[in-house]
Parts: sequence; structure tokens; C-alpha cells
Amino acid sequence: MNALNDTNDTALLSRLGLASRATAEDYLEAARLTLEALAARPGLLDGLALKRTPGGYARNLVYGDDDISVWAMVWSVGARTSIHDHHCSCCFAVLKGTVGESRFEAIDAKRAVLKSTTARGPGYVACMLPTGPNLHQMTNLGDEEAISLHIYGFDHRLHASSIDREYELAAL
Ligand SMILES: [Fe+2]
Repeated sequence: MNALNDTNDTALLSRLGLASRATAEDYLEAARLTLEALAARPGLLDGLALKRTPGGYARNLVYGDDDISVWAMVWSVGARTSIHDHHCSCCFAVLKGTVGESRFEAIDAKRAVLKSTTARGPGYVACMLPTGPNLHQMTNLGDEEAISLHIYGFDHRLHASSIDREYELAAL
């Protein structure tokens, strides 16, 4: 793991891992506060050799414990995810650049319709539960690299990613 090495940051995340065992509402609030604190920290990712994927996005695991995993996502210009939902909580903060978040509504197990697209800039924080509206697609909308920090409610040793199902865009 290409881990965050500031002990203040890892202590914050360790407390959040334990908080994930509380009620969902309490956890989401704790995750939001943690992401706001981390996003406001200058040089949070300094010293980490972040992977990059030309034309796509790269996931960098920067913290993991039994309850949560934290990933720095580096988005090339135009990079986008699939349309997907999650098997776990999904919280993220934009650290750099402009990340578009499109929300969808499933019309069956494989197809979804677009409901909205919103550009998110540095400091924006979102938190979602697997039981709530969490069907989305993220895209680097800017003309430069973007970076976001994601906290997922899964143990990285047990799951390859946070994605539950992927969907096709339904033609209407
Ligand atoms: Fe997602």
C-alpha cells in the first residue's frame, strides 16, 4: 500500500473505521467531517507515488483497515467510470480539478436513465449508503488532471472494489 504517512491522518481514519460500526447516519456524518478535514489539509498526498492511467483513472489505496478503505483516485482528462452502484458506503471529496457526478435511476437490473449531472470542485464532499440513492458515474470534466479521495465501507482485502452492479445507459 502507498499509505498516507502523517500520523494525524491515519489516526483520523482509524477512528472513522471504528465509527463505521455505529449507526449509518452517525457514520456518514463522521465520514463527511473526516473528508472535510483531510481535503483541507495542504499536501495530504505529498510524497505518495500516485499511479496514473493515461486516458482513464487510477485507484491508489492510501489507507485500509477491517472496516474502511481509502483510495486516492487520479483522473486523466476525460476519464470516466462505468454507471455503477455500490455494495458498501461510498463517500468522497474532490481534492483537485473538476469531477462531474451524474446520478441515474435504474429501470431494471441492467439499464439506468440519467437524472442529473453536476460539476464538483475542490472541497466538495458526498456520502452515500448502499441502501440510498447511490447509482452514479464520475467523469473528469476539466481540462487537467483531477484527484478525489474516496472512503468506502469495505475491507480492501475482501473486495476488489466498491462496485456492486454496472448498468448501461438506457435509450429513451
Ligand atoms: Fe461510485
